[in-house]
Amino acid sequence: MNQTALILDFGGQYKDLIARRVRELNVHSIIRPNTISLQEIKKINPLGIILTGGPKSVYRPDAPQCDKDLFSLGYPILGICYGMQLMCYDMGGCVSPCAKSEYGTVKINLNTDCPLFDGINPQQTVLMSHTDQVTRMPYSFTNAAYTDNCKIAAMADINNKLYAVQFHPEAENTTDGIKILENFLYKICGANGDYNIKDYLQTQINQVRTKAGNEKVILGLSGGVDSSVCAALLSKAIGKNLICIFVDHGLMRKNEAEEIKKTFSERDLQFVCVDAAERFLSELKGVTDPEEKRKIIGKEFVEVFQTQAAKYDDAKFLAQGTIYPDIIESGSGKTATIKSHHNVGGLPETMRFEGLIEPLKGLFKDEVRRLGALLGLPENIINRQPFPGPGLAIRIIGEVTKEKLDLLRDADLIVREEIINSNVKADQYFAVLTDIKSVGVMGDDRTYEYTIAVRAVSTTDFMTCEYAPVPHDVLAKISARITNEVKGVNRVVYDITGKPPATIEWL
Ligand code: XMP
Repeated sequence: MNQTALILDFGGQYKDLIARRVRELNVHSIIRPNTISLQEIKKINPLGIILTGGPKSVYRPDAPQCDKDLFSLGYPILGICYGMQLMCYDMGGCVSPCAKSEYGTVKINLNTDCPLFDGINPQQTVLMSHTDQVTRMPYSFTNAAYTDNCKIAAMADINNKLYAVQFHPEAENTTDGIKILENFLYKICGANGDYNIKDYLQTQINQVRTKAGNEKVILGLSGGVDSSVCAALLSKAIGKNLICIFVDHGLMRKNEAEEIKKTFSERDLQFVCVDAAERFLSELKGVTDPEEKRKIIGKEFVEVFQTQAAKYDDAKFLAQGTIYPDIIESGSGKTATIKSHHNVGGLPETMRFEGLIEPLKGLFKDEVRRLGALLGLPENIINRQPFPGPGLAIRIIGEVTKEKLDLLRDADLIVREEIINSNVKADQYFAVLTDIKSVGVMGDDRTYEYTIAVRAVSTTDFMTCEYAPVPHDVLAKISARITNEVKGVNRVVYDITGKPPATIEWL
């Protein structure tokens, strides 16, 4: 059993980042909502606790709380931003609105006698983002940092191992942020650094072997990072008892289906590819409404998968590539459904299996990628960008046809090649086939052909995004190549909208 740092979520946007940073420092971390009971916390028996930031003011009635006794349980605690304000408020100090809010990077002076800042340069640049601040500390605390606009930018009650910072040590723009977290975990909490991805892999392999025994396990393989890494792990654990079903719905990107077939048919597992492209196309014939497309594809996928899985009626377990962010319970409220997302591989509960195997459910995406590398998966699969379950069907406005899919596949490959070759930083990038035809000229002839939209976005969580500032020369090259190499396209445009108000996919 690994030592575990507990991260309590007060609604801040950086909770995943904090948890990942802790893991990068070889300490296992889990995220729980702020409402967790003290009893549950004791059951977890954390090495230390980190309170996240959050958008509310502690003195408002709707502010997220935690049990005040948390601070006297004896666990080392680090409060970050809202977490600092809550620690202060709950322990009898004072929190007030700032005369001048601080957003962005600011210069700070740290007291390096404080164990949290031990060995760190006293002058630092840190990321601040706050409209409230601590104006009077609880009596047992001392001031450990200040900025021009924030007199108490960190505080410590060394005897009780309670520490708090107004800035964000987890953010990249905080110069020595990682070192601060390392001090908290190793010098204050006494971490022994027992968490690493190699051991995680071995533990999971052992657990899968124990759970599955000699029984067969079915996995829906989409070719995305998660299901691919899951397949590689299970193959190592149970070899030919793993049956991977890959439903080729004909809506994949250029060469993708072939790459998946090649990678997995060479591994120690049973690889089954169902070529269902015609079936999907015929169901999508004449359909233009985005939600209807999504529903048809979701339903078809489940039917095709179930029919195939039924042929292995001796298989007792279903495996899924669920990862930690899919299951994190959050302190924040419900969100409206904008699109009916579904994952290829997400299956209805009516299936007949005795149990579920989810060996990646404790991992963040970057850890899944590292695991994939450890398992020898090729680069093009490990670093694959997210691809929606309904595939290119939701990147074609209007009816989906074989001709349009082929055209989009060619344009999309050019976008991907040029973005990769130019080293532009974007988290997701692709081509969209719009339903617009417009007039152009080729040689001496008038043309009336399709418009391709190029989309490239920067995002950390895909819930919001900015359009990526792709340099003009790269865009010009993409445009020239698409209009020259892809028959049927005479115009290329670049989508410069963020999310909100747009979404990443066009449909
Ligand atoms: P939107 O378009 O909602 O997309 O801004 C956010 C992220 O989700 C991906 N996406 C999907 N992923 N099934 C998936 O597995 C879906 O139906 C689906 N629709 C969108 C999208 O590519 C982006 O990364």
